[in-house]
Amino acid sequence: MNKTIIVSNRLPLQVSIKNNSLKIIPSVGGLATGMKSVHAEGNGIWIGWSGIPEEELDSALSKEVAQEIQKEKCVSVPLSIKDIEEYYEGFSNKALWPLFHYFMEYTEFKEQEWEAYKRVNQKFAEVILENIEDGDTVWVHDYQLLLLPQLIKDKKPNTTIGFFLHIPFPSYEIFRTFPWRKEILTGMIGADLLGFHTYDYERHFLSSVKRILRLEVNFNQISYQDRLIMVDSFPMGIDYDKFYNAALEHSSTPQENREFYQRLQEHTSEDKKLILSIDRMDYTKGIPNRIKAFEYFLDKFPEYKEKARLVMLAVPSRSNVPQYQKLKRETDELVGRINGKFATVSWTPIWYFYRALSFDDLIDLYISSDVALITPIRDGMNLVAKEYVATRTKSDGVLILSEMAGASKEMNEALLINPNSFEDFADNLKRALCMPLDEQQKRMKFLQKRLKRYNVEKWAKEFLASLETTKQLKGAIIAK
Ligand code: ADP
Ligand code: G6P
Repeated sequence: MNKTIIVSNRLPLQVSIKNNSLKIIPSVGGLATGMKSVHAEGNGIWIGWSGIPEEELDSALSKEVAQEIQKEKCVSVPLSIKDIEEYYEGFSNKALWPLFHYFMEYTEFKEQEWEAYKRVNQKFAEVILENIEDGDTVWVHDYQLLLLPQLIKDKKPNTTIGFFLHIPFPSYEIFRTFPWRKEILTGMIGADLLGFHTYDYERHFLSSVKRILRLEVNFNQISYQDRLIMVDSFPMGIDYDKFYNAALEHSSTPQENREFYQRLQEHTSEDKKLILSIDRMDYTKGIPNRIKAFEYFLDKFPEYKEKARLVMLAVPSRSNVPQYQKLKRETDELVGRINGKFATVSWTPIWYFYRALSFDDLIDLYISSDVALITPIRDGMNLVAKEYVATRTKSDGVLILSEMAGASKEMNEALLINPNSFEDFADNLKRALCMPLDEQQKRMKFLQKRLKRYNVEKWAKEFLASLETTKQLKGAIIAK
């Protein structure tokens, strides 16, 4: 039976070693949390990195890791400390990530890291080639593996290859500054179908292909050598029922053994509001901006002192990269300063958690919050916004969402804001806190209906169905 091979830099599980024994935790980030449900349903395998450098594994541990990974229908690509420094922390997260998110000033272009990027994409290709059989489909994910589609196509020209980018594709004017722009585009168009979260990212990509590679582009089709390559947008959804059902269950089970939930409940009432934000600790998420805007809000509307609290959850991410370390320091300082400025004996304006939470605690936070404040400076999609909506089983609550998140394109009923405008931010936060219940429910129901219908399963099915159509198209061209 033919299988689908999912390939991404990070596997859905992360391995680490504590006191000489293995610790395995789920990976965070939209790619892993979203694709996990797709992988669980299918008959395929998932190829990626386990999160640990190969030097840290002796042969016994290595065997144990392989077994654990195999249980989850995964195959690992071994990466060395040097690979992680140069390919992952280096080229992927100091060149591609900032550039694709329009953070030009954070971008570093280093020849040695480019060489590592090519080397590691080649390593991934080798592991795929060891695991592929005729008729299998390969589905490559995200910016760490942009060269991989062409590497597979070169070795296995008849393999059907899909590629999905989980982050924005920047406008041509930004992308053209990239020193290896031709190589990157050529790597990507090794795929038969390329998917993006939004029509804008798709359009930017096609414009770069046309102007940099000078290829013929007809609507959303690229002609390259004897191939036709399709490009389309597929806004990624979430496992809606999983979040909805968990929220329903949490709201109806006794609270005695759920300390976190109880504590949260003690701080919500008719005139005490919880405002929630959840992100990976990443400069694209606009965390310092959000804290400063919250300060502005409290100065502008002092009647909310003692009444509104921002619960800010940030999960540690890429903490070896200097820009992320700087962000962490800045966030700690800002939270300290603002809490110092406003706190009273009975109220702290910001509760700040810097750690990953369990799924159950995450659900408790979602269901306890009156407002979700999701204000990235730039974000490919943002699944947290969708998860919040799915957990509002009574259809109450208000989502404030940045226009700069891909999710805003399909979530018009949220209060959409420009995260750089403190005025916009403060006025919309006040509006959310005062919004009558019937308006909350009207907006939320529209959002829920859409997200339930276009969930992650539907997203994956549509992508794979388009890929299948592309394959047939390819067959027809060869037959001619
Ligand atoms: P990104 O992919 O940039 O990290 P998304 O919002 O698309 O952003 O996805 C983040 C995912 O990580 C969501 O599924 C969310 O539930 C999960 N997540 C974020 N923060 C935490 C946390 N502190 N603990 C557990 N899971 C988290
Ligand atoms: C985003 C990216 C993913 C990445 C995730 C977590 O969602 O699109 O590719 O896996 O962040 O980042 P990390 O660097 O920890 O894998």
